[in-house]
Amino acid sequence: MAEVLSELHTICFDPLPETPWPATAMRTILRMPGIHSYALWDCEPAPVGLLIGRETRDEAEVLTVCVSPTARRKGFARDLFTAFIGDIACGTRLVLEVAVDNKNAIELYKSLKFQEVGRRPNYYRVGKSRIDALIMARQTASVV
Ligand SMILES: CC(C)(COP(=O)(O)OP(=O)(O)OC[C@H]1O[C@@H](n2cnc3c(N)ncnc32)[C@H](O)[C@@H]1OP(=O)(O)O)[C@@H](O)C(=O)NCCC(=O)NCCS
Repeated sequence: MAEVLSELHTICFDPLPETPWPATAMRTILRMPGIHSYALWDCEPAPVGLLIGRETRDEAEVLTVCVSPTARRKGFARDLFTAFIGDIACGTRLVLEVAVDNKNAIELYKSLKFQEVGRRPNYYRVGKSRIDALIMARQTASVV
């Protein structure tokens, strides 16, 4: 399964600055404590959507979320968030990072009631330059 998810991750993130996870990294992440992982199929042999999050005692974090380019704008990312939020404790703070120029993802997060709470300067490498990451957060109790 790690190989299949790694392939999906690579397809989804090309050409974005986030580094795709090779199968070895995917396997390691899936075995970390507190991990929640969700894959989504759409009548094809390979999955078209993936969300991996981590829950600790005080907070939950979305480590990655992606949907295949051929399956976008069908509500799959929203479905993945609904599954994750449904599985973590009510009232937990949910955080994520996103490149400032990733407008599609930022629109998704705003639609899910995330708000910008900070910024990591020069967080992502894009060729020879660097780009900031926004930190966005919401409470799990608010309505998706
Ligand atoms: C961002 C991403 C996960 C969205 O997946 P998706 O399945 O297409 O999103 P959904 O269909 O669930 O969209 C839910 C809402 O998010 C917003 N949204 C999603 N994609 C959008 C886009 N391209 N433009 C504007 N709004 C968008 C809309 O409000 C949308 O609701 P609507 O379709 O009813 O208007 C997908 O584009 C992707 O995988 N991108 C590459 C990987 C990536 O950037 N991951 C996030 C890294 S931080």
